[in-house]
Amino acid sequence: ESRFRAALTHVTDPTPGSWATQERRPATNGFANAQDTNPALLANQHWAAAIHDRLPAPELGRRILEDHLVDDDAAVDALLERGRAAGEAWAARPLAERVAALHRLATELEALRADLIAVAGDEVGKLIDQADVEVSEAVDFANYYAFLAQEQVQGAEHVPPCLTTVAPPWNFPIAIPLGGVAAALAAGSAAILKPAPPARRTAALLAEGCWRAGLPADLVQLAIVDDGPVSKRLITDPRVDLVVLTGAAETAELFRSWRPSLPLLAETSGKNALVITPSADLDLAAADLANSAFGHAGQKCSAASLGILVGSVARSRRFRSQLLDAVRSLKVAWPTAPAAQMGPLTEPAGDKLLRGLTRLEPGQRWLLEPRQLDGRLWRPGIRDGVLPGSEYHRVEYFGPVLGLMAARDLDEAIAWQNGTEFGLTAGLHSLDPDEVSHWIERVEAGNAYVNRSITGAIVRRQPFGGWKRSAVGAGGKAGGPNYLMAFGRWHAHPSEA
Ligand code: SER
Repeated sequence: ESRFRAALTHVTDPTPGSWATQERRPATNGFANAQDTNPALLANQHWAAAIHDRLPAPELGRRILEDHLVDDDAAVDALLERGRAAGEAWAARPLAERVAALHRLATELEALRADLIAVAGDEVGKLIDQADVEVSEAVDFANYYAFLAQEQVQGAEHVPPCLTTVAPPWNFPIAIPLGGVAAALAAGSAAILKPAPPARRTAALLAEGCWRAGLPADLVQLAIVDDGPVSKRLITDPRVDLVVLTGAAETAELFRSWRPSLPLLAETSGKNALVITPSADLDLAAADLANSAFGHAGQKCSAASLGILVGSVARSRRFRSQLLDAVRSLKVAWPTAPAAQMGPLTEPAGDKLLRGLTRLEPGQRWLLEPRQLDGRLWRPGIRDGVLPGSEYHRVEYFGPVLGLMAARDLDEAIAWQNGTEFGLTAGLHSLDPDEVSHWIERVEAGNAYVNRSITGAIVRRQPFGGWKRSAVGAGGKAGGPNYLMAFGRWHAHPSEA
């Protein structure tokens, strides 16, 4: 605990002219580099040019991907057998060797930083600054889980899963897949990485980073599968001991219906709100709301899709015009545009998102109407007058649209914030300590943030995971001290029993 605090107070500014995490981060800085990247500084630095030179990058990762197609039952069987054998061998290696391999993985990810940023921009439309912090987060995951393995796996009787399927989403194509694989390895398991189709080449580069770090090819296997019976077997086959999923709540529920006894660790959907009270610093609140809503075009499970304005904030024309200015001034562009601040949708908007972007419900009006600029590129939208119980209040649209609600007081705001079936992230902007403690005691969310944006959890500082329909499984939060505990079975160490 005291070591954590000491580590977390030493966040320093990035060194001008340098972008590598290790250079930016003094050795005492612990696991906190994910937010040390200053996009304004980075935009002007030489490495940004190197990434632009790589874009578009249709070939990056393609060959690896082609070598790892899994398209029939025999291929799945071979994959599972290789994975189990490698898992058994890995669990038998000395802990120090496994920890060292994870630190080498962190180093390899640093070496791949520019390629990872380029391929994530190419595949899912991640902007450079957002992909850059994802690489830092991935580096942090590898180092942090190595640290946890040393602290925890050593001191306990631990039966690791032998083989873990990691099923990440496409919206954080670097940090989330790598985090799942690194956690499985740290817990002593082999991993099968089954990337989401839009983010396969990014996953291929991550797998290459693992192999370059000396992790055996059978220990970290890349499985390129299309949805269907072959893909299903990576979830349902009894040789898979654990599935780590980040995705829609419906996907987690589907996996459970396929295999009711499935050990599943899932972080799922959210319908997240940021509450702003009259005591807040409204300049900061408007900026944090805009950032939380429109980073990666709102395609984050952690994104704010509701701003709940309390009392006089709800009536304040100044606040609305400030928010409007902030959102209107966002430069919406493809990742290849140097000054882009909001990128494209990864895939064309489906029916649900189109409803969110185009259809108002009774009592609502557009403060800023979303507009399709160029295919998947949309100008973001803000709807005013969202009522509790409306579709907009309940449904996760996963795109660049924000709704505003006007609450009488903080309790009403909390009731609306909690009034969905999800509980992933939540925010409060308030400078009144009584309001803050009142809110903290009542908010139903895995990640509750005060006076900060509600996306971008930092490894170790803000362990990430949800409540209610936003999570399935033993409840370990990614990037937090209990995460490895959720992998495998644990017994007290004989000396402590
Ligand atoms: N960890 C991400 C965030 O906090 C979401 O997966 O935004």
